[in-house]
Amino acid sequence: MTEQQRVNDSAKNQDLDQYRVSAGEDLTTNQGVRVSDTDNSLKIGSRGPSLRDDFHFQEKLTHFDRERIPERVVHARGSGAHGYFQAYESMAEYTKAKFLQDPSVQTPVFVRFSTVVGFRGSADTVRDVRGFAIKFYTEDGNYDMVGNNIPVFFIQDAIKFPDLVHAIKPEPHNEMPQAAAAHDNFWDFISLTPEAMHMIMWVLSDRALPRSFRMMQGFGIHTFRFVNDQGKSRFVKFHWKPMLGVHSMVFDETQKIGGKDPDFNRRDLWESIEKGNFPEYELGVQIIAEEDEYKFDFDILDPTKLIPEELVPVRPIGKMVLNRNPDNFFAETEQVAFQPSNVVPGIDFSDDPLLQGRLMSYHDTQLHRLGSPNFTELPINKSLCPFHNNQRDGRMQMRIPTSTVNYYPNSLGGGQPAPSETEGYVHYPERVEGQKVRERSPSFKDHFTQATLFFNSLSMPEKEHIVQAAHFELGKVEDKGVRERMVNLFNHVDHELAKKVAMGIGIPAPTQSVSENHGKSSAAISQENTTKTA
Ligand code: HEM
Repeated sequence: MTEQQRVNDSAKNQDLDQYRVSAGEDLTTNQGVRVSDTDNSLKIGSRGPSLRDDFHFQEKLTHFDRERIPERVVHARGSGAHGYFQAYESMAEYTKAKFLQDPSVQTPVFVRFSTVVGFRGSADTVRDVRGFAIKFYTEDGNYDMVGNNIPVFFIQDAIKFPDLVHAIKPEPHNEMPQAAAAHDNFWDFISLTPEAMHMIMWVLSDRALPRSFRMMQGFGIHTFRFVNDQGKSRFVKFHWKPMLGVHSMVFDETQKIGGKDPDFNRRDLWESIEKGNFPEYELGVQIIAEEDEYKFDFDILDPTKLIPEELVPVRPIGKMVLNRNPDNFFAETEQVAFQPSNVVPGIDFSDDPLLQGRLMSYHDTQLHRLGSPNFTELPINKSLCPFHNNQRDGRMQMRIPTSTVNYYPNSLGGGQPAPSETEGYVHYPERVEGQKVRERSPSFKDHFTQATLFFNSLSMPEKEHIVQAAHFELGKVEDKGVRERMVNLFNHVDHELAKKVAMGIGIPAPTQSVSENHGKSSAAISQENTTKTA
């Protein structure tokens, strides 16, 4: 089968066909009434007032007035593409997930790449994390892998997410994007949040300036679970590797390109697909036996840590090909709703406290952003396999349920849960016990070892780029205390790095290395930072 036939044959493509509407020859109202003139409103005399009788004018304007929906609270700017995923071999030993069983099956996917901080109309080329979200339309329902192009995250507990996002978004008084102006808020927050330092090293590196969406990695970040059909669970981390390799730009290039073509990454993705240069990514997994949960010197539930590939190799298990551009940006790329909580049998969650918060937040925000609990009925979100349940009504119900039975238990012909545990989704029966506490696990407290590991893995020019990025970013911070605290944190990562950063931002270079502080708790270092400036 040729690639073009595959594109046309995709089950999701066929499913979407029923919703596609062409321009049509006749201009009509939404009621289908043919319009005779759409350039002149109905008036009394050619210079007189408009009339309320003009239903066409009213409909045209009121619909226009409602064209915008709220943009995503984060990841507002994105670009989407359709494609498929195909496993290399059966993963039945590890997971019963249907799309990972049969190497001859192509599972349709929709992918959305995004920046995190900017508005919908912001530039592609900014220093930022990139979102890498995939919706797999599997036989068992939709599975969403909602990751980023950096393998770790800023914070360890989802309760801090609103603070992180408030600090990173434009300043509240003047709405100025932070990268272009003084932006003390973000660095103030980071300087008091040592757990972010591993992520900050990645964000200041060239990884935050991808040359193309086709040339960046993706990561599921959290530890998830694979569960096989015997109910055996193993921990798993997901990795996407671009077949074109990982390539970045240098900051100066991004500034110039961003000025000339703010759609640089979006255009590259679109044009590559139009030309048949289909982006491809290999999915890899790191699989960890349940018994090995505690064998690392970090906690596998801590999203600020990665599992070094030297300890657990990445096993390639399949390939994703993006081969079709969306027909309509709003209907597909804007209305698509990814949720980390959308899993299928064979994939389950871990207790990572960042993941746990995400399991609620995405659905909640989408109820607000898309405005109706029926957003799963939108063509781009609808699963390929049928869905039935007793949920009814709500704004914009797009289906016509014909069953008269909408409750359970029932004997009159309504839906029934799966007869056996092997058919329905069963949560992994993890054993959990403990007291209710608002605490961070002591196993989450080392914030610097992996930041140092990452820094040491870089070449000299890459290290130099981090120093330059820190000079640019922190050089705009007006508050001296914030700059001092950041130098102190860099000193926990690498002494030479801290000295170089300090020199470029008007702060005395630290005289002593503090690498022995690895393992200090976040609270202790925040306290240290606060007392230093008091
Ligand atoms: C959106 C990734 C942490 C809340 C997104 C998107 C991605 C993403 C890729 C854009 C999805 C799209 O293209 O539509 C991540 C990753 C995280 C993380 C990898 C950490 C490992 C969090 C946390 C929260 C959160 C901790 C809240 C507790 C949101 C919200 C949206 C979003 C509210 C907007 C969703 C929408 O409007 O459809 N995230 N995120 N994220 N994220 Fe996260």
